[in-house]
Amino acid sequence: MILNLTPQKFLIDRYSREVILNQKAKVLWFTGLSGSGKSTLANQLEFRLNSLGFLTYLLDGDNIRNGINKDLDFTETGRTENLRRIAEIAKLFLDANIIVLASFISPLDTDREMIKSIIGESDFRLVFVDTPLEICEERDIKGLYQKARRGEIKNFTGISSSFELPQFSDFTVQTSGFSIEECTELILEKFLKEIQMKMH
Ligand code: ADX
Repeated sequence: MILNLTPQKFLIDRYSREVILNQKAKVLWFTGLSGSGKSTLANQLEFRLNSLGFLTYLLDGDNIRNGINKDLDFTETGRTENLRRIAEIAKLFLDANIIVLASFISPLDTDREMIKSIIGESDFRLVFVDTPLEICEERDIKGLYQKARRGEIKNFTGISSSFELPQFSDFTVQTSGFSIEECTELILEKFLKEIQMKMH
């Protein structure tokens, strides 16, 4: 608990911005293994949402870890702090009433719960990109699985660090056997009503 801080309440809040932006912000958080397709789907979904006139922002693991979180590693503590900061950033975007797409491995349920409690249950939606390890490893787009198998990367998710199947998720998307466009449409369909302003 930090003492001597008094959070300010502003005249313009998120709900004032809903009217201006004509949308209701949510955080759509993609969890899944490296190479599962999280970033591809988040990217494609963002494209679709923008073509429908929504204002969005995409937060992505590899980018954030090159900037604000470049001091963090892939130990459990490093990941928890990575995700805690990102959840706080997502919350700021939410307050700006911008729809957030967040693409992070977020491998542990305890961390997913922490993220949910920072953002708030009513604004947080978890999308599980359910691509089996064998397929991610076969794809190995970044060549990281090979490196991890050779022992060149420590704590690699799925190989030397665990990935827990989410105990809860708002939507699960199976990518193998479906096109990126098909998966994107399913996610869009699932959440579209929630981000649209109600017609009067
Ligand atoms: S998280 O576990 O803290 O949520 P995050 O999504 O930010 O991870 O970063 C994952 C990205 O970092 C992967 O897509 C991969 O490119 C890269 N990476 C580098 N080292 C590792 C590692 N040990 N485990 C997983 N991903 C790693």
